Amino acid sequence: MFLLAHLSDPHLGPLPAPRWHELVGKRATGFANWWRKRHVIHREDVLARIVADLKAQAPDHIAVTGDLVNISLAGEYAPARAWLESLGTSRDVTLVPGNHDIYVRGAADYPRLHWNDYMRADDGKLVEDATAFPFVRRRGPLALIGVSSAVATAPFLATGRLGAAQIERLAAALQRCAGEGLFRVVLIHHPPLSKPKRHLKRLVDGAALRAVLAQHGAELVIHGHDHEHSLTELPGPQRQIPVVGVPSASATPPGEHDAAGYNLYRIDGHAGGWRCETIARGLAPHGGAVVEIKRTVLMGG
Ligand SMILES: [Fe+2]
Ligand SMILES: [Fe+2]
Repeated sequence: MFLLAHLSDPHLGPLPAPRWHELVGKRATGFANWWRKRHVIHREDVLARIVADLKAQAPDHIAVTGDLVNISLAGEYAPARAWLESLGTSRDVTLVPGNHDIYVRGAADYPRLHWNDYMRADDGKLVEDATAFPFVRRRGPLALIGVSSAVATAPFLATGRLGAAQIERLAAALQRCAGEGLFRVVLIHHPPLSKPKRHLKRLVDGAALRAVLAQHGAELVIHGHDHEHSLTELPGPQRQIPVVGVPSASATPPGEHDAAGYNLYRIDGHAGGWRCETIARGLAPHGGAVVEIKRTVLMGG
């Protein structure tokens, strides 16, 4: 049995003091928003409790699906790197970036400069530019396939985009890993399909991604961004593909979104006979302990 843990959207605080030139455009609204409400939602002590509970489960690997930082200030990335290292080594932790990690165009290189080895393929290729996504990491029976939907957007937009070239490379990676008989887990920050009310936060080329998944399949898609527990399905070539979202790992209850939590996936079996169960854990409704929230068999009965 392989145990995969998945957490997302820690939105690490506190915000460092910005440089004067950093507080223009989108960062100015993001900065005001952080001090108006986000700093009371995303709390370090809550995140520490979630991480302690996650580590107590002794997972074989940890997937992190982005939004480590908030408004992409230069000073946010080194503390986020330290947090990643506290979670585990780059061998045991895999990361894909979120929209807050490339909040403005000037920050496009920051995730790669600071977190590169957590987003690196097994063949040692570093994320030198956008063409390094998707990367593929093999761990036990799993192929962890990381894509980047993080792109800078205009103020009040939180959309993501993969781009046609990345989607084409993803199709090839899915096909190759299927041929190797691996349990393919796609890591992406944005959900492949958003509810209509989240139109301004959607993956804009989600239809193209869903077409590739329908053609080549995947055993599991995991994402963050919506800050809530979710389980949906997308059509695959042989069977439905489970798509699972987790809340922010630092969200204090009660709030607009789910309280902090994370997921575990217990994966057993072999190609054609996989078994996968997901266990959602999170803060109890009134805070306090981290408890099991729900257990769902995704495949294999
Ligand atoms: Fe987020
Ligand atoms: Fe996000």
